[in-house]
Amino acid sequence: PDPYTREKAQRAVLDVAHRGASAYAPENTLAAIDVAADIGATAVEIDVQRSKDGHLVVIHDTTLSRTTDVEKRFPGRAPYNVRDFTLSEIKQLDAGSWFGSEYAGAEVPTLQEALDLLAYHRRNLLLEIKSPVLYPGIESDIARTMRDNPYWLLPSGRKSANRLVIQSFDRDSVKRSKKILKHVPHGILGRVDEDDIDRYGSWADMINPNHTTINASYVRKVHAAGMHVVTYTLNERDEMRRAIRMGVDGIISDRPDVLADVIAEE
Ligand code: G3P
Ligand code: CA
Repeated sequence: PDPYTREKAQRAVLDVAHRGASAYAPENTLAAIDVAADIGATAVEIDVQRSKDGHLVVIHDTTLSRTTDVEKRFPGRAPYNVRDFTLSEIKQLDAGSWFGSEYAGAEVPTLQEALDLLAYHRRNLLLEIKSPVLYPGIESDIARTMRDNPYWLLPSGRKSANRLVIQSFDRDSVKRSKKILKHVPHGILGRVDEDDIDRYGSWADMINPNHTTINASYVRKVHAAGMHVVTYTLNERDEMRRAIRMGVDGIISDRPDVLADVIAEE
C-alpha cells in the first residue's frame, strides 16, 4: 500500500459490536456475534460473569430476568442472580425470545463458546469483566480459560486492535487481571479524571469512556500517556463522526454496520 493508505490503515478506527450486534440480535448471544461478524465489525464486546458452579458465562445483567425466561422456568428463585444458577440451569434458559420469536431457544453462551465462534470468524474480542466484586477470583478464571486457548494470547497488533482486550469499570479488577495476563492490553471503563491519566498510563493500556464525557483534548492527553481510547456506546452517525474527529482508536456500537459505513466515509 502507498504510504497514505498504510498510514490510514494504522489509524483505522476499530469497529466494536456492543454485546454483539445488539441492535439486530439478542445481546450477548452467539447469534449476535454471528451478525456482528457478518455486517462488518472488527471486534465484539461481551460481558462475562460466573455461574454458581464456576463456569464463565456471557451476559450483561447480574440477574437473568431481563434477557431470559428464568422467571417462567424457575419460579420462586428470585432474585434470579446469575451467580445463584448452575451452568446446566442457565443452559435451559431461552435468551432469545425476549428480542424476537425468530431467536427462540438462543442460549446464554459460555465464554468458551464465544471464543470459539469469534476465532472462527477471525474477529477480535473486547472482554468486559462485569461486576467482578460479585465473583472473587474471576480474573484468574478468565486467565485460565485464555491460557487453555492460546490463539487468544498470541500478540496480534497495537493495543486497541489486539486480538484480545480485557476491560472493566472496576479498576482493581483490571489491575488484578493485568498482573496475571501481562501481555494482554487492558482498559479502564469509564472516564478517568484528567489529573489521574498519567498514573493509569503506568500500567493500563486503554481508557474506554462514555463518548459524552470526552473531547479531542481528553483523547490527546490519554494518547500522550501512551494509552488508547475506545469509546461507548455510539449508535448515531453524527456522534460516530464526532468521536472519529476527536481521534479515538475504537468505537463500540450496537450498529457496527452503520459504524463501518461512517468509518469508511471519514
Ligand atoms: O464496553 C462498554 C460498555 O459495554 C459498557 O457498558 O453497561 O453496556 O456494559 P455496558
Ligand atoms: Ca459491556
